[in-house]
Amino acid sequence: MSNAPPDLPEAERRDRRPWAYTGTAIGLHWVLAVLIAGNLALGLYMVDLALSPAKLRYFSWHKWAGVTVFALAALRLLWRLRHPAPPLPAGMRAWERHAAAGTHHLLYLCFFAAPLAGWLYSSAAGFQTVYLGVLPLPDLLPKNRELAAALKLAHVWLAYSLGALAALHAAAAVKHHVVDRDDVLSRMLPFLSPRSRP
Ligand code: HEM
Repeated sequence: MSNAPPDLPEAERRDRRPWAYTGTAIGLHWVLAVLIAGNLALGLYMVDLALSPAKLRYFSWHKWAGVTVFALAALRLLWRLRHPAPPLPAGMRAWERHAAAGTHHLLYLCFFAAPLAGWLYSSAAGFQTVYLGVLPLPDLLPKNRELAAALKLAHVWLAYSLGALAALHAAAAVKHHVVDRDDVLSRMLPFLSPRSRP
């Protein structure tokens, strides 16, 4: 169990768990993780459906979730630039630190590039995105069939890359917890007991 009660102010929680992420970072991390995993699954499911009102509804939900990922990733990046991550366990080797940093940078790149390619694709295909059905987003490109085909491919491969990176990232976190038995996972999952700290 966490050793800090949940109703403590953020600064005090940070004082009690200095090796862990703060509540804001943890909240944004897990909301993004759920939205990305759900949107990958929805994207893969919806594309193979026959044209129907349900398929069009799923396309809309997919676009809204993707735009939300883009906005939350921007928020997370801004927040992260002002709040350094807690230090990594001392026992981590140099290559592991580089691999973790490289994966995190590529993940941030895909957080923006995958939704942006989807938005560009929708614009070039001639389908405006209306966020949550009420807020029309500007079309980023004029209608262009050839460009739309290229952007669709870019969107699909960026989405697959995002999925692969997220899977690698999650596998590394589980390896830290199960094999290395350090605090890398518990600093992002407050209900796990810390391994090497009081
Ligand atoms: C986290 C963000 C996103 C992820 C992970 C994601 C993922 C996916 C995936 C996996 C597919 C199916 C690819 C296939 O196998 O054919 C797909 C399709 C699609 N996505 Fe996204 N997407 C995201 C954001 C967006 C956004 C923001 C838009 C538009 C505003 C969008 C528009 C589309 C469209 C229109 C398709 C259907 C392509 C077709 O015509 O077959 N996506 N997406």
